Amino acid sequence: MAASNYKNFWDDKASTRTGAFIAVDGSANEEVARLTGAYTARQVAAALALQPTDRVLELGCGVGRIGRELAPRVAHWEGADISANMLGVARERLAGLGNVGLTELRRSRFDTLADASFDKAYCVAVFIHMDKEDVLLYLEDLARVLVPGGLLFFDTWNLAHPVGWRRFMLEVGQHRNADPSQRKDVARNQFSCPEEVRLFLDHCGFELLAQHGDSPWVQSVAMKRGGSRDAAAERARLQRDAARIAYTPLWTELFDAMIRVTGEGLPPEAMTDALGDDARGEEIAMFRVWYRELWRHNEAHWGPMPAALQADR
Ligand SMILES: C[S@@+](CC[C@H](N)C(=O)[O-])C[C@H]1O[C@@H](n2cnc3c(N)ncnc32)[C@H](O)[C@@H]1O
Repeated sequence: MAASNYKNFWDDKASTRTGAFIAVDGSANEEVARLTGAYTARQVAAALALQPTDRVLELGCGVGRIGRELAPRVAHWEGADISANMLGVARERLAGLGNVGLTELRRSRFDTLADASFDKAYCVAVFIHMDKEDVLLYLEDLARVLVPGGLLFFDTWNLAHPVGWRRFMLEVGQHRNADPSQRKDVARNQFSCPEEVRLFLDHCGFELLAQHGDSPWVQSVAMKRGGSRDAAAERARLQRDAARIAYTPLWTELFDAMIRVTGEGLPPEAMTDALGDDARGEEIAMFRVWYRELWRHNEAHWGPMPAALQADR
């Protein structure tokens, strides 16, 4: 099916449960979603200093990869997404939680959500798939639904980092020989840089509190202007917690191996070589499972999975 808008693009991707998981983190597997979900949830919780009393909104919640981890820690968690099919999987995965709401979006704003109805909001791996106009519209509406002083955390691809640039060049490579009469898909990867994000936030009523760009991602934490939250105290807190929010060099190295294999034709063994032993950091175990599922998915092209990736090693 030719996707003409965000909704049918993402509904098409999530037309099966497996498809939804693949679209979210490339894994097709609950185990990987739980592992990567816990990792990302820790970054979000640290960035937003989540409290049990918080009402929290996630834009582009997908299958509830992050929400499943965070909802039990807050007063209310609302997942909003353009895709009814994604929300269907999220509904199933979050069924046991009583403080969860799901909102299907129809355009780049939260039509059914009230002004100042959330304390915190976040958006992970979503703005990277939107035209910049839509990013701006969502940021404006996030400012509307957050309380004054409310906190926002989100990421975008980072052109200003070598691995982010390499990720961009994969898109350029695909585009180079594409049929010029065809538009690139509506939800293609979009790339940014720290200064651009700062501008968007400023124009949408947010004050930037912290930004991390030493990875293929620009990760930003901002505060809705107004309200009584002490920006200087928040900046100091975010500086103290930087290591729990920012992607580590090891994460970036392992991610780089994955995109070189999947996008640049490097032999898949480059991923196993990149792993090394578990003592290097907690990312090793997570990427091993991630690589394993990727290998399983590509076994027809890559051959049998090496022992280093097998589940019972
Ligand atoms: C790569 S997935 C990430 C899902 C989730 N944030 C996570 O990290 O697990 C992107 C998600 O954004 C949603 N999405 C894409 N474009 C959107 C738009 N214009 N408005 C709202 N949601 C959108 C998709 O349906 C999908 O669920």
